[in-house]
Amino acid sequence: SRAVKPVVTVAIQNGAKNFSTSPEMLFKVMVAGAAGGIGQPLSLLLKQNPLVSNLALYDLAPVTPGVAVDLSHMDTPAKVEGFQGADKLDSAVKGADVVVIPAGVPRKPGMTRDDLFNTNASIVRDLAECVARNSPKAIVAIITNPVNSMVPIASEVLKKAGVYDPNRVLGVTTLDVVRACSFIGTINGVDPRSVSIPVIGGHSGVTIIPLLSQANPKPKISDQGKIEALTKRIQEAGTEVVKAKAGGGSATLSMAWAGARLTNAILRGLNGESNVVECAYVKSDLTEATYFANPLVFGKGGVAKNLGYGKLNAYEQALLKAAIPELKKNIAVGEKFVNK
Ligand code: NAD
Ligand code: LMR
Repeated sequence: SRAVKPVVTVAIQNGAKNFSTSPEMLFKVMVAGAAGGIGQPLSLLLKQNPLVSNLALYDLAPVTPGVAVDLSHMDTPAKVEGFQGADKLDSAVKGADVVVIPAGVPRKPGMTRDDLFNTNASIVRDLAECVARNSPKAIVAIITNPVNSMVPIASEVLKKAGVYDPNRVLGVTTLDVVRACSFIGTINGVDPRSVSIPVIGGHSGVTIIPLLSQANPKPKISDQGKIEALTKRIQEAGTEVVKAKAGGGSATLSMAWAGARLTNAILRGLNGESNVVECAYVKSDLTEATYFANPLVFGKGGVAKNLGYGKLNAYEQALLKAAIPELKKNIAVGEKFVNK
């Protein structure tokens, strides 16, 4: 699936044109759930990524081929193909370097992410089985909720098929990082793109732990009460969107943005770039929870290095303590679903 495209760059120096060529790897990205609220804008963003040569859009929805035709008219190089229905799943996954999964149902007001488990567990299980059959070396990035349980499900399925590589299965927690950067940017009156912060743990309520003490720049907040309020806002930001959409679903556009950011980091790693760092939820031995999110270095085989989570202050240690039992419970539910 991997093509090498010669890139011609033209530099104009002192009025003279110098032509230089360098090889650039290009990759096939498959989006499962591509016709959905996240899937469509995510595909729009991926169609603009110069590291993507092929974009395979898979969904059950009848509109899927139309979404693919629509995006294929964009004047960017990535070749777009639509795959609608379960009988097309194998062809969509075949040869994929990265499989991004936003397939499944979203929350409505009053629901927790765990309430989605019964519907979404079998969707993620079936998709992981297909990856094992058709593209076992693909990096799998799971957006579907509850992320804390879906990553163990995919991992157990790949294990059963004998193709599991913990460096290639990720839960997407980038939206928590994006939100923390956005909120700190507003508080400090700076461009949110200049903010960096690790968000560790998992992706639901108390398992989302923004390390405000490690933010750069630090939020300009004087008292502990405000630190705790900002932490709570980041933890509950998904619910803030669910309430504001009033029955119309959960975050889609900011999630597409965050999903495109993580996919780009994965692709840059696959392409051999060094020092590509993003947080994601992966198999882990850092804590008692066997899956955990924190900053990772991406490389040619997916996760190249786990950077840990550094030094926590007393408040963050308490947040971690509260998160671990919840994470362990979420992980056990996912593992049991596959091994029952
Ligand atoms: P949506 O209902 O708008 O779209 C989901 C799409 O998945 C639909 O097009 C549907 O046809 C498709 N689908 C359902 N079953 C499928 C299957 N077996 N194979 C392929 N496609 C299938 O929902 P959405 O708003 O895009 O949200 C999708 C998921 O992402 C939800 O579970 C939601 O909770 C989750 N989410 C996660 C994060 C995060 O930070 N990780 C953020 C937002 C939403
Ligand atoms: C989010 O954080 O926005 C997603 O996990 C969707 C949700 O249900 O909150």
